[in-house]
Order: sequence, then C-alpha cells, then structure tokens
Amino acid sequence: MKFGYFDDANREYVITRPDTPLPWINYLGCQAYFGIISNTAGGYSFYRDARLRRVSRYRYNNVPYDLGGRYIYLRDDVTGEFWSPSWQPTRNDLEGYTCRHGLGYTIIGSRYSGIEAHSTYFVPLDEDLEIWRLTVTNRRSQPAYLSVYSSIEFCLWDANDDATNFQRNFSIGEVEVEDGAIYHKTEYRERRNHFAYFACSRKTEGFDTQREAFVGPYRGWEKPLAVERGKLSNSVAHGWAPIGAHHVKLELGPEETQEVIFLLGYHENPQAQKFDPPASQTVNKKTVKPVIAKYLNFAEVDAAFENLRQYWDGLLAVCQVETPDVHTNRMVNIWNAYQCMATFNMSRSASFYESGIGRGLGFRDSNQDLLGFVQMVPARARERILDLAATQLPSGGAYHQYQPLTKRGNNDVGSNFNDDPHWLIVGVAAYLKETGDWSILDEPVPYDNAPGSEQPLYEHLQRSFQYTLDRLGPHGLPLIGRADWNDCLNLNCFSDTPGQSFQTTTNKEGKVAESVFIAALFVLAGRELAEIARRRGRTDEVQRYLAAVARMEDTVREQGWDGEWFLRAYDDFGRKVGSKECAEGKIFIETQGFCVLAGIGLDDGRAQAAMESVAKHLATEHGIILQQPAYSKYYLELGEISSYPPGYKENAGIFCHNNPWVMIAETQVGNGDRAHDYYARINPSAREAISELHRCEPYVYAQMIAGRDAPTHGEAKNSWLTGTAAWNYYAVTQWILGIRPTFEGLEIRPVVPKSWRGFKATRLFRGVTYNIAVTREGEGNQVALEVDGEPWEGTVVPAPVKGQREVTVEVTLK
Ligand code: GLC
Ligand code: GLC
Repeated sequence: MKFGYFDDANREYVITRPDTPLPWINYLGCQAYFGIISNTAGGYSFYRDARLRRVSRYRYNNVPYDLGGRYIYLRDDVTGEFWSPSWQPTRNDLEGYTCRHGLGYTIIGSRYSGIEAHSTYFVPLDEDLEIWRLTVTNRRSQPAYLSVYSSIEFCLWDANDDATNFQRNFSIGEVEVEDGAIYHKTEYRERRNHFAYFACSRKTEGFDTQREAFVGPYRGWEKPLAVERGKLSNSVAHGWAPIGAHHVKLELGPEETQEVIFLLGYHENPQAQKFDPPASQTVNKKTVKPVIAKYLNFAEVDAAFENLRQYWDGLLAVCQVETPDVHTNRMVNIWNAYQCMATFNMSRSASFYESGIGRGLGFRDSNQDLLGFVQMVPARARERILDLAATQLPSGGAYHQYQPLTKRGNNDVGSNFNDDPHWLIVGVAAYLKETGDWSILDEPVPYDNAPGSEQPLYEHLQRSFQYTLDRLGPHGLPLIGRADWNDCLNLNCFSDTPGQSFQTTTNKEGKVAESVFIAALFVLAGRELAEIARRRGRTDEVQRYLAAVARMEDTVREQGWDGEWFLRAYDDFGRKVGSKECAEGKIFIETQGFCVLAGIGLDDGRAQAAMESVAKHLATEHGIILQQPAYSKYYLELGEISSYPPGYKENAGIFCHNNPWVMIAETQVGNGDRAHDYYARINPSAREAISELHRCEPYVYAQMIAGRDAPTHGEAKNSWLTGTAAWNYYAVTQWILGIRPTFEGLEIRPVVPKSWRGFKATRLFRGVTYNIAVTREGEGNQVALEVDGEPWEGTVVPAPVKGQREVTVEVTLK
C-alpha cells in the first residue's frame, strides 16, 4: 500500500494522506539554520546546533507521536468552525490533503469547507530564518470571513535543559512585541546575544506569547481556547512557556486568493550592541529589522525560493543517470544525493529518531559521509576534513565525536574506538580523488585542537595508520578497543550493571580482543595511504605501508578465515566471534563485505566463497542481515549487540549501512546481477509499494530494517541520518554503474545486471562534464572505451587539458 507518489519531474515526493505510518519528514535549511518538518507540519528548528541553539520546542516520543510544530489554524468567523490545513493538530476530515516534500522545502495543504489553503515552508539560502508562506483560496460561491492564527512554541535554547530544568525555566521566559513582531529573548538579559523572532506580513488583530493564554487551561494544540473564541489576548510571557501566535483576518470573495507570510528567525547582535537604547534592557532590533522587512515582501520570497531551487539543481547536476531501473534513477538523481547532503549537515544529531540532544558529530560517521557528498560541495568537504583531523589525538587515535559549535572533541564519549583513525584516511582519499586538490595534505592541523601542535594533514594520516600497528593483539590482528565499526560489539566492556554505557564502559584491559574488521579497514586505508605517499614521492614510506598491508592480509588469511567465510573477531578469552564453532552469531556481514571490498581473497577463492555464504546465510528479501543466528540471550563478553531482542539493530537486524559493502564486494567478484539485486532490496523507492510494512519514508534510507528473527521483519526504523545514505550512493554510482573518481582521472568500469542493454550518465568531474553512454554487447564486464570518438586504452579517462569542458565517453560492455 502507498501513501503517496514520486513526482520525479518536480523532484518531490507527494504524500496524499496525512496518516502515514510514521511522520514522514523533510529538512529545511542547508547551511546554518535548520528545521525538520513532518508531513503534518510537525517538527522544530535550530541554529547550527540542535541541542544548544534550539529555536522552537518539540517533545519527542509524544502522543500522538508527532505533536508540536509550525501550526497554522484557519477559522470560519461566521460559524466559528476551525481547522488546520496541515491536518495536525486539529485532525479534521480534510479533502485533497497533499504534502509535497521537495529539496529544502515542504508544501502542505488541503481543502476544508470550501477553503483551500497551502503553506510553503523553506529557509532562504544564506539566511537564518524560515518562511511560512500561506496561500488561501475561497472556493465557495459566497464571500468567506476567515481568521488565520499562526503558532510556534519557543525553546529556551538548550534543548536538554529546556526539557528538564523546570524549577529555573518556568521563571526565565521573556519576550518583546513590537509592530506585530514577537521577539523571544530568554536569557538575552545576561550572557546570550541572540534572540528569535516571529513576524507576519499583515496587520495583526492581536497576538499571544504566553502558551496558557493561547491554548487555555487543560487544553492542547488541537483545540486552543483563543482560536475557538476567535480572539487572542495580547498576552506577554513572564516566565512559563513563551510562544508566538498572530491573528490575521482575511475576507475573500468567491475564487479569490490571498497570501500571508510568517517569518521565524534567529538573530545575533554584537555583544556591545545588544540593547537599544544602550542603557536599557530592550533588544536592539536595528540589524534584524531590514532582514524581516525583506522577507515579508512577496517578490523577495519568490526570488529566494527560486534561488533555493537553483542551488539544488546545481548540486544534483553533478551526477545524473538514466538506467533501465526507475528506482535506481530516482535515488541516484534525486533522493539519495539529497539524503547525503542531510547526513553531511546533520551528522547524526536531529531527526525523528535522533533527539538533537545526544550525539555530536561522529568521527567515523562524518568521514564516511564524505563518500556521499564530496562531489557536490568539495569546499565544505575540505573544511569538514580539517575540522575532523583537528580533533585527532597525538597518539593517532580520535575522539569518537566532536561538538559542532565548539569543534572540540567530546570528553564524555572519549576515544579508543580503534577503527576511527582509519576512516580519516578513507575520507581524505575520497576528497583527493574527487578534487585533485593535493594542497590539503600540507594544511597545518593541530592535534586535540591544541595550539602549537599543528602538523601537515599528511602526518595525521601517517599517525592514523601507525595507531593500529602500535595496537596489535595475540593473533597479530588489530585490538578492537571499545568497539570497531559495530558500536555494539563491545568485547572489553563486560557490563552487568543496568544503565551503564556499553560504549564507554571498559572492564578489561583490552590487550586480547581483536577485530578482523579493523584488519580489513587497515588494508583498505593502507593501500590508499601508500598510493598517496607514492604521489608525494615518499618511496620508502610506500614500501613500508605496502609491506604492513601485505602482512595484515596474510594474518587475515591465516587467523581470520573460518573455512567458508571471514571471522568477525576474537573476544577477551581469545575465542572466535563469527565462526561455525559459535553457538550463535556464526557469520557476520561486516567482514564478508569489507574484506572483499579491501581486495582480500580476490585471488584465492575466499572472496567468492564469502559472497556465497552471505547469499546462503544472511540475504533476505528485505536486505542482508548483520549476523546469524541472532543472539537469543545476553552475553557478558559480547556487549550491546546481544542486548537487543533478536532481529533488531545490530543483533541480526538488516543494518542497511553495511549492505552496500556486499554490493561493492559483489562487483569486485564480477557479479552485477547480485550487486544490483541487493541494491534493489533495500532501495526505499523500490519498497514504496510495501509502505505499510516498511513504514518509514519511501524516499530516504533508514538505518535499519527488522531482520527475519524479528516479529516485524521488513519494518524500517531510524530513517534519514545514517551512513547508509553515503555508502549506497557510493556503491551504486562508483561500483555498480562504475563511474569512479581515481587519483588519475575518472574511471568507467560498470558491473551492471546482464539484462541491462546499457545506460547513460553525465558526471561533472574536476570542472569537466563527462557524457557517458554504456552499451552492452556481451554478457560480461569487459569494458572498451572510446573517448571523444577515439579508441581508448584502459578504463581511466584523465582530466582533459585545460579549456575542454565536455568529454564524450562511449563504453562497450562485452
Ligand atoms: C550507528 C553509528 C555508527 C556505527 C553503526 C553500527 O549507525 O552511528 O557509527 O558504525 O551504528 O554500530
Ligand atoms: C547504540 C546503537 C548503535 C549506535 C550507538 C551510538 O549502540 O545500537 O547503532 O551506533 O548507539 O552511540
């Protein structure tokens, strides 16, 4: 069953009924001011940091699940009836409800009692504000006398404190109201220099800023007293819960349309110019007023919306494909690229599953995210890499997370996730291949943000590599530390105390438990580093890196192979994890995918065998399961992985992040049918038809789909902010379609299904547009290229000489 449809021409997903299985959301903003918005206008906004600069309030895990948002009420002033055009919060029986989630904007509307109303929500580029543009049309044959009410609940900035510290918070809320604009200025009197505002393009009949005055005692947003009564009380908040609400009257003749703009924004003043007059406690509004005036103007709003559309057109134009599979096209051309930008902007902070008060930016997560967005915003990728590297520790290890406002490593979570440092090499290599900007390696970058500790970025990569060589275990494999990529395989944790963090509790010395996954990652990263060193003329280093890589490969073959698949790890007792000898958790996906992806076992049959074992033991119709058999009980020596009920999350869920590793691995062994089949199984667009089972948005990936041991096999959770976005984009564009940036140039080497007659693609690479046409002549993966009409040796097309802006590449698959 479907709840909407894809409008590919407009790059929108159109939701046609409001009661989606879960809130289906979108993001507003792409630079500093952000919001999340659901298909019924639920959600909230923040400036840069979802925890520390939360502009509007939201209560997670509410009843109904999604309540609180950018709500507009319409009221028929003749009958007194009122409703929300976005369905929530009044939930009237609407006609013609639609929600169009587009790239950086959402349009929600409906018709009720002969009145059509739509709101367009978006954040203009380069501004710290959001626009709600309301369009109301009277479809009755009689004039309509309507009232419009806007509403927003302000957050007292620190979202965590806001939700917990009531003894203080109920006494600190402050607002000002001037010319119909509401200014939320809690804590501005003391150390803050920022405030929020909520303004309206029309003359207002009244306002409210105290929540209780608006909703009324013992009422909620679904039936606010002030709306029912038809009159706001011009309340001024002193403490309690500051809100913003405007009242506007509209008189509409038959078929007449009128529009209202509401602006919600964030603004900072220089510390010395906070007040106006300077000796007063009144917010200085001199710098914000021109901004407000600008965006209360319809022509400016039109222009800003058009700019936003062009911005996204530009980003998506970097890679466009035309394959025989509509789901591939739609995800690559629109939604997967868009989701990659969201994971770049948000990391794992704010979604309907990430509360915005928990995690900072993950070191491993952010480095992997680079794989999905570097081609769209290379300059911002560069900045992100340097920020990440600056949190690296002198040992080569890394803080697991850092906070986006301070850019400092997060001490609460600390370090010792022994895979972390290698992801920096993977991220930097992706950046170099995409951009050819070798100067980044010479950028001085501090360790642990300590002034004076700056070394070239290249040295950071060297230390990342060395970190593992300094931490090898009894089998010569890398020690795992707190965890590797799998945050829940906590082999040194041994926690028997409820509530203890699996990620930060360490009860073992950590000198025994080893990770085959880190070994594979080390091989991959080591090869990249050797190639980087070679290009910098460091021949002796190249030899050293390659020798270490070869040794590690041997170790994996000798100590990390179980006969039919790769082992996962050794625990603190030196026992195998992910082996046929284990009672549960006999085979894990991570090492099958990643060892092969890193090139291990390609020449000795192990790679093929591992892929067969994945197909036999782990693949389901809904995707590839993380491990089997699921852990049926808690294992002290394994940690969080066994804390989840079977089939969920890391305990045998379909953890979509690592499915693409197997897709890439399948392309390495030349199996395009299987690679694309696995791709299709978790492709959200291909799963649209089973939305009532899948439940999450059909236009973006979710972190997890319940595995076959779960009672809800096939149900997705944790949509949007997941490494799944980058890895799927990377797998399908670079390995299945085979359009792959390399250090030398653009490689084109597709491994696609046998049934495909061919495909077309355009790829903007280092300033040059490559027009690529692939034609299948045989059933294999042999590639013959013609570049600008001339036969071409090999599969890599180097960047053309200066001046040439377009290259035509004809590819024959035999
Ligand atoms: C989450 C984390 C990621 C980790 C994965 C597997 O997605 O953000 O860092 O690798 O879980 O545990
Ligand atoms: C939990 C989750 C895992 C996530 C981690 C982040 O362990 O199961 O997916 O990576 O939390 O802290």
